Amino acid sequence: MEIQLFNEEDTEKVLDLCNNNMEFDSLSESLLREKVFDDPYYEKELNFIAREEGRLAGFLSGVTRETESERTGYVKLMAVHRQFRRRGIGKNLYEKLEGIYRVRGIKRVSIYDVPYNYFMPGIDPRYTPALAFFETMGFRRFSDTANLTADLTVQEFNTEAEETILAGKGIDIERAHSADRGEVLNFISANFPEWSYEVEKTFNLSPISLHIARYRGRVQAFSAYNCNNIGTGWFGPMGTHPNLRGKGAGSVLLKRCMQDIKEQGKEKGLERAVIPWVGPIRFYSYYVNAVVERVFWRYEKLL
Ligand SMILES: CC(C)(COP(=O)(O)OP(=O)(O)OC[C@H]1O[C@@H](n2cnc3c(N)ncnc32)[C@H](O)[C@@H]1OP(=O)(O)O)[C@@H](O)C(=O)NCCC(=O)NCCS
Repeated sequence: MEIQLFNEEDTEKVLDLCNNNMEFDSLSESLLREKVFDDPYYEKELNFIAREEGRLAGFLSGVTRETESERTGYVKLMAVHRQFRRRGIGKNLYEKLEGIYRVRGIKRVSIYDVPYNYFMPGIDPRYTPALAFFETMGFRRFSDTANLTADLTVQEFNTEAEETILAGKGIDIERAHSADRGEVLNFISANFPEWSYEVEKTFNLSPISLHIARYRGRVQAFSAYNCNNIGTGWFGPMGTHPNLRGKGAGSVLLKRCMQDIKEQGKEKGLERAVIPWVGPIRFYSYYVNAVVERVFWRYEKLL
């Protein structure tokens, strides 16, 4: 077996490997690029492929995140060709990555749940070999989470009436404009700093995939989509300042995003929005009839 760095020219082969060996997912080339090369902290030296008998047999993408209190190394994507499993390819790929993390003094590794840019927020337990594999590598399951899905074909998301009521209370809802960028990003970095990167990305899209609520003229809540896994109907993040919670702005913001996803997805036949890595299931169930679509087990290893 030979382990090499993943070069862009191998993208198509890696895409085939993923799509043929991850039975519960499908990736497009642009999605694979978004996950790997377009990660804001992409590092070539954390992305590997394995060759066996001259063929592409495995792929591992790693990335790191740093906060004030913690530096975490991630496995963001991983797959080994079915034909070459249980031969130590996964182990070799993972140990190569962990070796680099150790040299860098990283103290924690986590699987898939990479803030800002992730494919899935943990391991779908139907990938049972992956559970067995990571447990063997010393990982511990510490939490779980879910992706919800909202059926767009059976719902209308007209918010006019609610918006009129909100306006009477001094709350105005609108799509964000380029001119709002500075104010919105200040609001996000003061209140939801973990989402700054994703929200900033919405200003590069047309239309801007962000709706905001202003209370007495000041931005106090937001909801976004297409910040991750672009084109798949991916909702979020959303947040409301504690002062404005419980007044109905959040549900309107959510529905506005659902309506956009529905409209924009029509041509492609997109029927569902994904509400990932949730959170307050009741809220989404109540307002847009979202249901749990997939669960994810979250694993970590302390180095
Ligand atoms: C998870 C995956 C990457 C493992 O790759 P692999 O090359 O088969 O793993 P290795 O051969 O290095 O396995 C190392 C050890 O992990 C454990 N392990 C791996 N697969 C296992 C399985 N199906 N059942 C039980 N233990 C398993 C074993 O202890 C194994 O050592 P052993 O074979 O000497 O007993 C592979 O199964 C895969 O690509 N799955 C589909 C995609 C996927 O789930 N990706 C990760 C999602 S988070």
